[in-house]
This record gives sequence, C-alpha cells and structure tokens, in this order.
Amino acid sequence: MKSLLLLALASTTAPLARAWGAERCASFTLKESGVAPVSAFSAQFYDAGDFVNVTNPFSSINTTSLPAFCRIQVAIVSNQTAGSVVNTEVWLPEAWTGRFLTVGNGGYAGGATVEDLGYVGVAQGFAGVSTDTGHVSTAGGANWTLGDVNAITDWSWRAIRLSVLIGKETVEQYYNQKITKSYYLGCSTGGRQGLIEVQRFPTDFDGVLIGSPSNWMTHLQPWGLHVGNLVQPVNSSRWIPAETWAGLIHNEVLRQCDGLDGVNDGILNDPTACHFDPSPITCAGGTLPDPTNPICLSADQADAVTKVLSDYYAEDGSFVFNGYYPGGEVGYPTGYVANVSNVYAIDYERYFVMNDSMWNATSLNVDVIRLGDELDVGRTNAIDPDIRPFVNAPHNGKILHYVGLADQLISPGNSKLYHQNVAGFMAQHGRLDVDDFYRLFTVPGMQHWYGGFGANAFGASRQASLGMTPLSHSPENDIVQALVAWVEHGRAPTQLIAASWVNNSDANGLAFTRPICKFPLQVKYKGGNPNVASSFFCG
Ligand SMILES: *[C@@H]1O[C@H](CO)[C@@H](O)[C@H](O)[C@H]1NC(C)=O
Ligand SMILES: *[C@@H]1O[C@H](CO)[C@@H](O)[C@H](O)[C@H]1NC(C)=O
Ligand SMILES: *[C@@H]1O[C@H](CO)[C@@H](O)[C@H](O)[C@H]1NC(C)=O
Ligand SMILES: *[C@@H]1O[C@H](CO)[C@@H](O)[C@H](O)[C@H]1NC(C)=O
Ligand SMILES: *[C@@H]1O[C@H](CO)[C@@H](O)[C@H](O)[C@H]1NC(C)=O
Ligand SMILES: *[C@@H]1O[C@H](CO)[C@@H](O)[C@H](O)[C@H]1NC(C)=O
Ligand SMILES: *[C@@H]1O[C@H](CO)[C@@H](O)[C@H](O)[C@H]1NC(C)=O
Ligand SMILES: *[C@@H]1O[C@H](CO)[C@@H](O)[C@H](O)[C@H]1NC(C)=O
Ligand SMILES: *[C@@H]1O[C@H](CO)[C@@H](O)[C@H](O)[C@H]1NC(C)=O
Repeated sequence: MKSLLLLALASTTAPLARAWGAERCASFTLKESGVAPVSAFSAQFYDAGDFVNVTNPFSSINTTSLPAFCRIQVAIVSNQTAGSVVNTEVWLPEAWTGRFLTVGNGGYAGGATVEDLGYVGVAQGFAGVSTDTGHVSTAGGANWTLGDVNAITDWSWRAIRLSVLIGKETVEQYYNQKITKSYYLGCSTGGRQGLIEVQRFPTDFDGVLIGSPSNWMTHLQPWGLHVGNLVQPVNSSRWIPAETWAGLIHNEVLRQCDGLDGVNDGILNDPTACHFDPSPITCAGGTLPDPTNPICLSADQADAVTKVLSDYYAEDGSFVFNGYYPGGEVGYPTGYVANVSNVYAIDYERYFVMNDSMWNATSLNVDVIRLGDELDVGRTNAIDPDIRPFVNAPHNGKILHYVGLADQLISPGNSKLYHQNVAGFMAQHGRLDVDDFYRLFTVPGMQHWYGGFGANAFGASRQASLGMTPLSHSPENDIVQALVAWVEHGRAPTQLIAASWVNNSDANGLAFTRPICKFPLQVKYKGGNPNVASSFFCG
C-alpha cells in the first residue's frame, strides 16, 4: 500500500517538477541591482538526460548524463568607456542544494569552464558560474590583449569578480531563496583568480579550492623563459630532445630515487628527497652523444638538467622562482623546457610587460623581471600572505589547495612557498596553526591540473570531465565535497583516497588507489599490494 502510494506520488510529481523548471527557466528575467549593466541575457532549459553540447575555445561539454538544469548566459559590461563585456554562464540545477560554486579559467582563455559547470556543479547540485574573462580565445596565447590594460584587467580578476556578484543575484532571484554557502574551484589561472578573491574580496566565498596557481605571474613567466633558454636553441650542445627527457634522464631519475619511498612504481612520493646527479649518464671524457641514439648526455646537457631541476636566482642573486621537481621529466618538454619559448611566458613579457610583440627571451635579465614586478600589469599577482579578513572570525573562510608533484607548468615549489608564507604571516598575527584554515595537499606523480602517473582522480577541476572521475562524491574521495564538509560541518580533511584509471581514462578500469596527503606529510608505504590505498599511509 505504502509503496503503491509512493509510486503514485512519484509519477505525478516528476512531470510537475519538470514543468516548473522548464517554465521558470523560459520566463526568468534578471532584475538588475546596479552592480554592473547587463547587455544581453538568455536562458535554456535542459531536462535530465538531455544532450548537453556546449563548446568554446577553452572548454567543452558533450554529455547526456546530467540532471535537469537551466542554463543562463549573461553579458556583463565591465567598463562602459571601453565598451568591454564579459560573457558569463550561470547553470542552475533543479535539485539545488542551496550552494553556489564559481569555476575559474585556465591560461589566457577566453571561454567559460563549461565542463566543470556540468560535471562538478550541476551533477552535485551547485548553482555554478563561470566567465569567458572578457574575450574569446584558447588558453595558449595572449596576443588578444594588444597591450590593452582594460582587457588584461578583465582577464586578470574583474570578469570573475563581476560574475560572482551578478551570478549570486541571478541564483537568488531564480530560486527565490538565499544561497547557503559559496564555493570556488579553479586550477592554474583559476587558482590565481581564486587567490585574488581570497586576498581582495574576502567575503565572496566561504571555501575555496585552489589548484597549482599561477599566482606569481611576474616571476613564474621569467622562470619559464629561463628554463627554455637553458636548453635552446634546438640542436645546440645543450639542446635536450623530448625523447631524452622521457627516456635517458627520467629513467636515471627513477633509478636513483624511485625506491626512496619504498616502492618502485615510477612515482616519487617526495621529489624533494631526490638529489639527482646526472654524472652517471654523462658521456665519459668529453665525448659527444650520438643524437640518433643518445645513451649519455654532453656536459652542457648535464649542466642544463641540473639547472632546470634547481631554483632560479637572477644574476644579482635574488630569488626568482622554484625549479622543476625530479620525477616529472616526461612532461617538462611540453611545459617550459620546449624547443621555442613557451607561449604563456613569452606572451606575458611581450603583451603585459614590454608591450613589444617582437621582444624575445634572449633579452631576459633581472631588469625585465624588476619591471614586471613594478608594473604588475592588470594586478595579476596574488601573493599577499595576509588573508586575515578571509580566514578570521567572523568570516572563517577555508582554503584547500592541491598541486601535482610532477607539475610540468608551475613548479610545485610555488604552491608550497605561498602556503609557507601564509603560515608564517598568520602565525605572527595570532593564528598559530595554519591547518585550522588552509591545507595543502600534494599529489605524487600528477601533472598540472590532472594526468601524469599518479592517483590523479579526486574530484578537482577538469578531472571528471576528462575521464578521471573520483571514486565517489564522498568527502574522502572528492575534494570539492571535502571542502564542503570542512566549511559546513567543521570536518577538516586529513587525507583523500584518489584513483588512478588505466591510461587516465575511467573507461579502461581502475589501475590503483592511493592516499593524497596533507603537506608536509608524505605518502608512505606500509607493505602489501601497492595497488590499494590501504597499503600506504600519510606520515
Ligand atoms: C555539438 O556542438 C558542436 C560545436 O558547436 C557542433 O559542431 C556539433 O554539430 C554539435 N553536435 C550535435 C550532435 O549537435
Ligand atoms: C560527443 O561525444 C561522443 C561520444 O563520446 C562523440 O562521438 C562525439 O563526437 C562528441 N561530439 C562532440 C561535438 O564533441
Ligand atoms: C575603462 O576603459 C578606459 C578606456 O580603455 C580606460 O581609460 C579606463 O582606465 C578603464 N577604467 C577602468 C576602471 O578599468
Ligand atoms: C594571435 O595568435 C593567433 C595564434 O597564433 C593567430 O592566429 C592570430 O592571428 C594572432 N592575432 C594577432 C592579432 O596577432
Ligand atoms: C602598447 O602598444 C600599442 C601599440 O603599439 C599601443 O596602442 C598601446 O597603447 C600600448 N600599451 C601600453 C600599455 O603602453
Ligand atoms: C635539428 O637536427 C635534426 C637532426 O639532425 C634536424 O632534423 C632538424 O631539422 C634540426 N632542427 C633545427 C631547428 O635545426
Ligand atoms: C618544436 O616542436 C614542435 C612540436 O613538436 C614542432 O612542431 C616544431 O616544428 C618545433 N620547432 C623547432 C624550431 O624545432
Ligand atoms: C631576439 O632579439 C635579439 C635582439 O633584438 C635579436 O638579436 C635576436 O635575433 C632575436 N632572436 C630571435 C630568435 O628572434
Ligand atoms: C594503455 O596505454 C598503453 C601504452 O600506450 C597501451 O599499450 C595499452 O594498450 C593501453 N591500455 C588500454 C586499456 O587502453
């Protein structure tokens, strides 16, 4: 009887709910409050299981797996004099939890992160917001700025800020309810945008999830040019082809260091314990390597490897940026040690600092770095360790931060440095234990954002959308839910259990599970089957 009644209820309420969402979505208009003018607005309803196929130059989603939601697109005028507009997406799930989620961008894009609005936001009941940052482009390249500081400002922080404010209004008007808690998720440029929010607009979010942030642009990009210069030009005596990084050099790193953590699995759990010495693979007696079959490095190549894996100090002795970590060599030629100056780095100097599209990396010196610091064009840096307004009472905000220890674009040392600077500053100002408000998780073997060889699937940005889904959406497996549990229930995460899928695709099945540890703890091997997380601990 009871089940019959439930069945009857289910069959009558489901169509009604659909009608509510479709109708609400079609008829919704935004009442403007004066934050910034809105120049265009549209809304489209997707029922559960509908084909969602949205593409822009930065991000795309193509799935039939989402629950019902209303997709709103709003164009926000960021500067009336300049006529600049930011295009923002607000995705509103039928099954709303009351939570708000802003998703950041990547590189110099140019497109809302629609994949996370779907796979993280709508799928888990968040009302989500993401913006194109004020222009349309892929992540790789900044020639769209043409020296226009107004456009750079939109990309740097203003587009996110306006989207948060207008996004919140949209959400509350749509549901006719207050948002309960506000969250942020972003990696790389997205991590940088999130830290700007924490530092400058501290009440926008209750919890932020920051992945390997490019938060020190004025130093990251000169470092990127520096490591490129260490190996360029192609075919010089110091040039190192990608195959040599992935073969000869990486294999020797593993031979020297893989076993330090107790398991020979191709993953360095603590790369900082690896003091790589290239001399065993350096050609004897000054012999030059055979370029078609390199079994040893020239002295110049060996010197370049050592410098690539070392911190970078400018010619006046000042610290610029942390070096690459040993263990990630397979990825480094796709990052900054490539055959030409990396586009993220060269375009930063050309279009932000020098305003000269012909400038090149052979002119890099400490004066260029100083000029970048002085100008900080678009206020892209987010290195302020004073986060008291965000984390202290009454706001009590929480930061979860993650970084792959094989990051091929931003040295993991940069994430540790910011964490350490905040811990030091805040301790001097009464918050003795950084763990109370800011926790950093280091992911062995993972590259920038996702990928690599480690357990890299734990619910962070772009992972699920690229086939690296978390084991579950419980706080133990999903870092977004871990943040929610910390903010809403005071349950601070101590470790996560992440998945590695065969060839980084869940369609191929599970390869292994591993803990991810809270810095400064490391993943340690207890013994037993290395494919199961319970054979490891954080110590
Ligand atoms: C999905 O979107 C892409 C890009 O906009 C378009 O080329 C393609 O035809 C769409 N696919 C379907 C099945 O509608
Ligand atoms: C969407 O995904 C399907 C299957 O995953 C694929 O065959 C199709 O080409 C994709 N379409 C677009 C527009 O990406
Ligand atoms: C708005 O744009 C104009 C013209 O590009 C510029 O001079 C001004 O500084 C900008 N204002 C702000 C607040 O960005
Ligand atoms: C910017 O770079 C892209 C990609 O290299 C190129 O297609 C485009 O023409 C360039 N635009 C300008 C204005 O230089
Ligand atoms: C950069 O150069 C362009 C063209 O040479 C010029 O229009 C622009 O005003 C310059 N921007 C700055 C910030 O100097
Ligand atoms: C570098 O050397 C290889 C092998 O000799 C050759 O094929 C290639 O064209 C050279 N590249 C440059 C940029 O000189
Ligand atoms: C650099 O590498 C890219 C990708 O492998 C290749 O397309 C390009 O021709 C190379 N450029 C030089 C100067 O060797
Ligand atoms: C870089 O710029 C310098 C000085 O302007 C010039 O001599 C050199 O040829 C340029 N190199 C490249 C690869 O464009
Ligand atoms: C995974 O990648 C390896 C190397 O490319 C390949 O040999 C293997 O077949 C792949 N396995 C699956 C299940 O795709």
